[in-house]
Amino acid sequence: MRVVRICSLAAGLFLALGLSMSRAADLSVRTPDLADGKAMAEKWCSHCHMISPGDKRAGDAAPSFTAIARMPSTTEMSLRAFLQTPHVRMPDYHLSRDESADLVAYILSLRDK
Ligand code: HEC
Repeated sequence: MRVVRICSLAAGLFLALGLSMSRAADLSVRTPDLADGKAMAEKWCSHCHMISPGDKRAGDAAPSFTAIARMPSTTEMSLRAFLQTPHVRMPDYHLSRDESADLVAYILSLRDK
């Protein structure tokens, strides 16, 4: 009787461990933070790009983020790929995965604005 108890306790423990481990794995897929994305865009991108609708500060060499968001070719993948490769006319920011995810989410959020 006692052995059975201990076994089920051990099984319960393993289950709990397994569950918390899979929860930890889920956490690595974090939801992008639009506010962070916008703050980064203001800090790093707004010298060249109009980063929000109605923005009039930037020059016109670079497309506005709203225009980028509305291009049919723009997708999460295309933006990520763009931001992860160096570009001649743009500084290379060496963005982390989270930073680029936030920026991409922010740019895509402008699509319907
Ligand atoms: C020094 C000016 C400059 C800065 C700063 C800058 N960009 Fe750009 N960006 C450009 C120019 C110019 C282009 C157009 C590239 C071209 O046509 O070759 C461009 C193009 C892009 C495109 C691609 C548009 C397309 O045609 O697909 C994206 C996306 C983009 N920038 C995002 C960003 C983000 C995000 C930041 C901030 C982290 C940023 N840029 C900062 C100058 C800049």
